Amino acid sequence: MKKTKINGVELTYRDEGSGKPVVFLHAFPLNQTMWDQQLAILASGYRVVTFDWRGFGDSEGSSTASTMPIFADDLAGLLDYLEIKQATICGLSMGGYAAFAFHRKYANRASALILCDTRATADTDEGKQGRHQMADLARSKGASAIADSMIPRVLGETTLQSNPAVAKRVRTMIEATNPEAIAQASIGMAQRSDSTDMLLLIACPTLIIVGEEDKLTPISDAEKMHQAIVSSRLEVIRQTGHLSNLEQPATFNRVISDFLAQL
Ligand code: MLT
Repeated sequence: MKKTKINGVELTYRDEGSGKPVVFLHAFPLNQTMWDQQLAILASGYRVVTFDWRGFGDSEGSSTASTMPIFADDLAGLLDYLEIKQATICGLSMGGYAAFAFHRKYANRASALILCDTRATADTDEGKQGRHQMADLARSKGASAIADSMIPRVLGETTLQSNPAVAKRVRTMIEATNPEAIAQASIGMAQRSDSTDMLLLIACPTLIIVGEEDKLTPISDAEKMHQAIVSSRLEVIRQTGHLSNLEQPATFNRVISDFLAQL
């Protein structure tokens, strides 16, 4: 892993392979290693960049809320540092929320989008309340309590019943996360704008992926994005929940490889 200071914060990243750049934005409250199986496959044909959001993984934290516009600025800063003018941006869940914020501010820097298990809408009032409770839980009980609460919701039934290795991997990632980063990003997600209006402005090729068992951002959210983004294609991945790239990596890799090959 490499490190560089972006917007005053030291971010940890990987930059492997060569070819058209593809940048992966990780989900909450995980880290860039969630993309290991994608990096391993794609780096033979593409320049693949993964990184830890501020506060997550091995990146340095900051004292302010981790809002999606701040994440977008960090992404733009990292691309500048790596001298990447345009890239395919692939974000899963919170990574997708950040991809919307990035597109809002730096539309011409996304040559294509891959939006996985995410949604364009902002949180409801109840959802925002839940985010603040999650921040309080992280601060009072630590990352293990967050893992207990999130694992049954983020993984699909098929994975929960038949793939304990994935559940263990997700738990390890969550438990390694700094509780303050969890709190900051939770509050940051609660503050995010509704991006529904922006969907109509997305003109680059866009792949939307959703797990058929995704309970957090279900198929109906993906369908709404697909209807609004003219240049989009929708892929539903069977027998997977919210973390589609971790739960069904082979299918996920095939779907994104097919999409990238057509760009
Ligand atoms: C994620 O996977 O990034 C989170 O579950 C997003 C969310 O809670 O909305």
